[in-house]
Amino acid sequence: VKRQADEELAVSEELQVSKCPVGRDDRKTAVFVDRHLTDLAGAEMVRSYAQSRDILRNGNLKQAGSGAEFVDMSDIDQVIMFYLDGEPHRQRRATVARFFSAKAIETRYKQVIEDHSRALLAGMQRDGSAKLDDIGYYLAVAVVCEILGLDYSDLIALSHRIEKLLADSGTNPVRPPNDPAVVHFYERDVAPIIAARRESRKDDVISHLIDAGYSDATIFTEVLSYVVGGMLTTREFIVIAAWHMFGSEELRRRFMDGDKKKQIDILEEILRVEPITARVVRRDPDGEEWGKVFAIDIRSANLDEAATGPCPHAIDPDRADRMRQEGAMMSFGDGVHRCPGAQLTLNETRIFLDLLFRVPGIRLAREPEIGWFAPNLAYELRGAVVVCDLAA
Ligand code: HEM
Repeated sequence: VKRQADEELAVSEELQVSKCPVGRDDRKTAVFVDRHLTDLAGAEMVRSYAQSRDILRNGNLKQAGSGAEFVDMSDIDQVIMFYLDGEPHRQRRATVARFFSAKAIETRYKQVIEDHSRALLAGMQRDGSAKLDDIGYYLAVAVVCEILGLDYSDLIALSHRIEKLLADSGTNPVRPPNDPAVVHFYERDVAPIIAARRESRKDDVISHLIDAGYSDATIFTEVLSYVVGGMLTTREFIVIAAWHMFGSEELRRRFMDGDKKKQIDILEEILRVEPITARVVRRDPDGEEWGKVFAIDIRSANLDEAATGPCPHAIDPDRADRMRQEGAMMSFGDGVHRCPGAQLTLNETRIFLDLLFRVPGIRLAREPEIGWFAPNLAYELRGAVVVCDLAA
């Protein structure tokens, strides 16, 4: 019996190896990103998965990413969640957790995702084609606005106003507060909602922030952080996942035949090899001093063979179960700041792509071009065109 078991093991190991021809690399963005991403000056670069996890789970270390050094921490009630640490961060997370729970996704956002996906895809069927990054972006805008409480009834015009907020360079993804596009967005889309919610609360993040006593300025900054954290990332996720599945009949079949878990396994594995956020940063304060800085290189940590097992550059949706590992690895961060929107974006992308792949005659007519959004240290995929049979 033992010999038989040994033989079976040998065969299954051989199968795994044969699934991975030497040098297989499924990544589409890697060469491009490597050309643009440089190490963070003055920081210790962390590339191993185990060390990244230890750092992000270490409660003594503080957020040091996205310009944290420029944030005025004198009144923490006015600071957005991303930059908080310790107890104030824990409290803020606890109060918004309900907007990201599995229950909220199931009972509230799922319907919004389905309705908007169907409407956007119906538009594509009428026209016979669509730009994938546009429709993915419109969907992401709708879902984040639903969470925040913003009015997205004129979704496409709103999406364009939000697009205009983005910086072309520098380290802050959003233009400065006095930029006309930022002022216009505030006055047109955000201030009226804050005023209305001050009169009468609803079940959304803006109402909750009012209840917690935040100023209009802080609420606006928090809104902008959701734009960057939730809209831009999801747009790229939809395009990269679609691009991989259009390129592999086997992967797409598996996705369409799979249940929810199997679909999410595929999406997480794609995100592991193509992480959108390239880096998270922490510091070890030394008394009043800023202290030592650690920059977690998410791309490297996600490819660390000690955690992924063999053939880390290959997309293998069974990997996470086999390795008993978090599927997306470091792509959503880890520890107390781990992305609260992870399940939401996974489900949003899953529902949208499932409907997209079922459109009659659907195919990718043009692959996206890869660009670099320096302020966010993230790749951008633009110009992907999907075509389909015209609606009867
Ligand atoms: C593929 C999509 C997404 C990716 C790759 C992503 C990635 C990340 C990462 C890596 C972090 C951790 C940052 C750190 O530790 O310094 C994070 C935090 C965060 N994300 Fe996401 N995210 C995504 C989608 C979303 C969505 C859909 C939302 C909201 C609707 C969202 C809201 C946030 C917020 C508010 C934080 C800060 C959490 C905190 O500091 O406690 N993200 N995200």
